[in-house]
Amino acid sequence: LNYTEPYRPQYHFSPAQNWMNDPSGLLYYNGTYHLFFQYNPAGIEWGNMSWGHAISQDLTHWEERPVALLARGYPNNVTEMYFTGSAVADVNNTSGFGVEGKIPLVAMYTSSYPVSQELPSGKHVRAEQQSQSIAYSLDEGETWTRYDAENPVIHNPPSPYAAEFENFRDPFVFWHDDTQKWISVTVLAAIHKIAIWSSDNLKEWSFASEFGPYNAVGGVWECPNMFQMPVKGRPSVKKWVMVLGLNPGGPPGTVGSGTQYFIGDFNGTTFAADPDSIYPGNKSANWMDWGPDFYAAASYNGLPDGDVVQIGWMNNWQYGAMIPTSPWRSAMSVPRQLSLKMVNEKATLLQQPHHSWRGVASHHTSKHSWKSISTGSTRLHSPGKAFKINLSFSDHDSGNYLASTFAIAVRTSSDSKQETLIGYNFTSKEVFVDRRNSGVISFDKTFASLYHAPLSASGDKRINLQVFVDWSSVEIFGGQGEVSLTAQIFPEGNATEARLVSDGVTQNVRLQIDGMSSGH
Ligand code: FRU
Repeated sequence: LNYTEPYRPQYHFSPAQNWMNDPSGLLYYNGTYHLFFQYNPAGIEWGNMSWGHAISQDLTHWEERPVALLARGYPNNVTEMYFTGSAVADVNNTSGFGVEGKIPLVAMYTSSYPVSQELPSGKHVRAEQQSQSIAYSLDEGETWTRYDAENPVIHNPPSPYAAEFENFRDPFVFWHDDTQKWISVTVLAAIHKIAIWSSDNLKEWSFASEFGPYNAVGGVWECPNMFQMPVKGRPSVKKWVMVLGLNPGGPPGTVGSGTQYFIGDFNGTTFAADPDSIYPGNKSANWMDWGPDFYAAASYNGLPDGDVVQIGWMNNWQYGAMIPTSPWRSAMSVPRQLSLKMVNEKATLLQQPHHSWRGVASHHTSKHSWKSISTGSTRLHSPGKAFKINLSFSDHDSGNYLASTFAIAVRTSSDSKQETLIGYNFTSKEVFVDRRNSGVISFDKTFASLYHAPLSASGDKRINLQVFVDWSSVEIFGGQGEVSLTAQIFPEGNATEARLVSDGVTQNVRLQIDGMSSGH
């Protein structure tokens, strides 16, 4: 990979070339993290949807592998595209795909058929139909065999919703230990419903239940993801989390894609959201990320129970096809470790960069602290273009001279006309990212915006922010990870400066900046 191209992510995964969208099959198997993703082998716009593939031993360094599932009929006559899905290791060989003791990896994906046709299985599909299919690999994900004898394995939406056959997709499959069954969670995208299926062998599926619509129902529902986690501080309590994408229909102040979640219980048949996870009248939602560029989040299969690591597509359908990068488009978020904790009597989802990111070698570390910073700008030693920040400072309620906002400006040009601000508003109690003057913004009229997320101080009355800055993105984790904000930026020229900007007095400021090297 050539890490010197303008905007090339230095430590977020991006394909060497071409278009990428959703993570489609995150699987940890035999010491390797697999990342499959929506990929166009032929260009930097969406099309010919196939599954790209990358592998990692540590969730920080990635190696791109050959395309795993190439659209049927590519390049001249594509009759089936492979949309978003997921992958599992069928360790008990329930599918029978394993031979000679080899464990089959099984991918479940949406077959999107541009034209009506009769399939190799003899089944007939209509033009624009979406169905769920499977494929397996006996060589650790390098090559895949489609189950042509029977595909698609879920041919049509559940019968009451038969009319939804053009908007039925994104199977997330996982093993449900309590019932010893495979579960697959799909969306009926246009009517904001999740359809849940179960199976003994990954081949024959029966419809189990539906969920939704609840909370945010803008646009379509896409990319469901479901997992179980323990609740910290509540021994023996485990909760299920349902995550799904909305497009368009993200958090307040965003345009385009967004991600919401529900906390509840799942008995192998039905997912029931906790009452405090549902807002009547679709008036509010639990947002996974409050920025514009975190979508289609999916979690890893194959990790120990309760160990949940998620990756999101760091882009937005509003302008995804217009971002000024070449010869690739889109990157993935930093892998995030999820956990649940009781906060104010409510099970709350926390996100932290995966612990492998703590150990990522920094080529340079600088630490500073200030008893107080007064109004104005405090210049920092140039951190360059790829680094991580730990910034914390005292919260306060109000008072003379005390700051109304405090921010760190990054990717600042020498004249400070161009920069991205990441900070806190003490009045509204919100963390924000402001990319209005971040650089190239004109490719979409909604791009130049300010995004914010509610964040209250920690027990010691401090605001803690952790920020990952790369050549074309910022990712912010607030507090213990109660909120995150992810935003792409495209600074022009050599915007490598940074400064602190205080509107009033900010107290007890601590700052650490670690330079990140390329190739992670
Ligand atoms: C979400 C999505 C999915 C679909 C895929 C196609 O980003 O629209 O619903 O399967 O992209 O690439």
